[in-house]
Amino acid sequence: MGSSSFTSNSSTKAQLYREAATFIATCYQELRKSVDEAAQRLHDIQQQIETYGTYEHTFEELEHGARMAWRNSNRCIGRLFWKSLTVFDERSAQTEEDIADGVLRHLDFATNGGKIRPAITIFKPESDIAEVRIWNHQVIRYAGYETEHGMVGDPHSLQFTNVCRQLGWAGQGTHFDVLPLVIQLRQRTPRWFEIPRNRILEVRIDHPEIPAFRDLNLRWYAVPMISDMVLEIGGIRYPAAPFNGWYMGTEIGARNFADVNRYNVLPKVASLLGLDTSRHASLWLDKALVELNVAVLHSFARDGVRIVDHHTAAEQFAHFERLEAEQGRSVTGTWSWLIPPVSPATTHIFNKRYNNAVVKPNYFRQPPPYESVLAP
Ligand code: ARG
Repeated sequence: MGSSSFTSNSSTKAQLYREAATFIATCYQELRKSVDEAAQRLHDIQQQIETYGTYEHTFEELEHGARMAWRNSNRCIGRLFWKSLTVFDERSAQTEEDIADGVLRHLDFATNGGKIRPAITIFKPESDIAEVRIWNHQVIRYAGYETEHGMVGDPHSLQFTNVCRQLGWAGQGTHFDVLPLVIQLRQRTPRWFEIPRNRILEVRIDHPEIPAFRDLNLRWYAVPMISDMVLEIGGIRYPAAPFNGWYMGTEIGARNFADVNRYNVLPKVASLLGLDTSRHASLWLDKALVELNVAVLHSFARDGVRIVDHHTAAEQFAHFERLEAEQGRSVTGTWSWLIPPVSPATTHIFNKRYNNAVVKPNYFRQPPPYESVLAP
């Protein structure tokens, strides 16, 4: 059998049943279903586990489970909107083409001409006969190349770009080559699919008052869609479950463009702003950072692409915290991820403590599947 971790002896069956029972109790209560219905369902699940070593979620369970997983995402400041997550059930997708089509349909739905809609597409769960993995970190991501003239593109993608090239893909060698979608079924050689350019919404970055900004030739894609995390609901793991929200400006302006080990554009921004970069105390880094973030927010808004600034996002998070308290639920969170990377102390989050306990359902990191391709 394919994956050795998937054996169904009696102790793993018992473990799975316990996870299922915990999930069904909470899920059915939140969906205002009767205690009887929950008990019935658990009985059914118990029999499925006994016979097959696993059980199948109903669409309702899948949908609410994926939303609960967002609600429990400790690092996410955007959780106010957890109930609005659209869930696409693609558990019946069989081939690499089916899966690529499902991902592209999701991308179209999410992009929505700029009025970004949060969504998740859920492919087959982990089992001893099925394994679906999307090798990309995000569905849309720019390639990174190490050249004799230095770094080209996004250094974050260096390793994965090499994987794609070994699979036979070739990029244009620009700073913003969109990587192909790479899909693997079971132990087969992964297949790659170019994402049609006309389905990728991108925003050209310029500054509302400083025309020279345009000369930086910066752009970013509209839809952040994480595709390398495993969704776990009631003991069932979905290793291919890409999900998207919309961007908070600082993710692009204070990290993707600003980090020294990413696009690293702050020195260029400082020079076009005419700042004194000879000493830290001129605060040139800070001034450049703020103008870069102004440019990102301005450019997305100009193109009608949904984005949120970090002050509004923090207020929305405070609203989420109040609503959760009203429901008698405690909000868990990772403080260091929840504070925005620009002016964190201007938000209420900075002055609070958060309990970093992990509640399920949730999205988890999983080991990258491409180590074997990279080995020389
Ligand atoms: N920080 C990541 C990026 O810059 C995206 C993570 C998800 N972000 C979101 N707004 N849903 O690409």
